Amino acid sequence: MDQKLEREAIQQLRRSYGDVGLADIPGDPFNLFHMWLKDGVSNPLIVEANAMVLSTVDGDQPVSRTVLLKDAEKSFTFFTNYNSRKATEISKSPHVSLLFPWYAMERQVIVLGEARKVSPEVSDQYFQTRPWGSQIGAWSSEQSQDLNSRDELEVRFKEFAAKYPEGTKVPTPPHWGGYEVIPSSIEFWQGRYSRLHDRVRYTIDLTDSTIWNVKRINP
Ligand SMILES: Cc1cc2nc3c(=O)[nH]c(=O)nc-3n(C[C@H](O)[C@H](O)[C@H](O)COP(=O)(O)O)c2cc1C
Repeated sequence: MDQKLEREAIQQLRRSYGDVGLADIPGDPFNLFHMWLKDGVSNPLIVEANAMVLSTVDGDQPVSRTVLLKDAEKSFTFFTNYNSRKATEISKSPHVSLLFPWYAMERQVIVLGEARKVSPEVSDQYFQTRPWGSQIGAWSSEQSQDLNSRDELEVRFKEFAAKYPEGTKVPTPPHWGGYEVIPSSIEFWQGRYSRLHDRVRYTIDLTDSTIWNVKRINP
């Protein structure tokens, strides 16, 4: 059976966006971000509202993958394996992009900034809140490295599960921790009628990094 979606069918995929625009533009982009994140969390059509696409660069090759936002005070925090591909790329170039794809709300947020490791205390604090299985998973996975078979991973999981049984304190792996992305630009996109979308971009002032400048951008 032919499962392919023909080009014409793909080209016909379009929807009309709503009439609710970005009327109130607060001075601090984190206020708007938190309003939108809250909307996402309470929207049953949005799966994992805190999922964001992290792009790093490998030389001049951009590389993207999804990670989960775990804190958004004045920066955007996620946790990962410090030996992973993304971590290697960040160690060579801290310039990253984050994209929140909130299609069901006809919204998108794009952050540009620099990633840096959070303190071991912050990583440790979060690691201890994770379910036991995720903690053992973090010990077991040599993230981004080749794996000979699924069995190899399952065996490593069993070994660490025996070493750190459920109900005991699992230490934070030395190769695991957080990054925070310090934003220099945050862009909010709200879908509107006739493709006249709202785009609002905040950028850090070049002379005073506590000040956000805000501009509307053509859609
Ligand atoms: C919804 C979703 C959430 C994810 N969250 C994380 C995360 O918080 N941290 C992480 O290291 N990987 C997460 N992943 C897996 C990454 O997308 C990726 O496969 C992994 O981090 C290895 O990336 P790298 O080889 O480019 O370093 C998530 C994947 C999905 C689909």
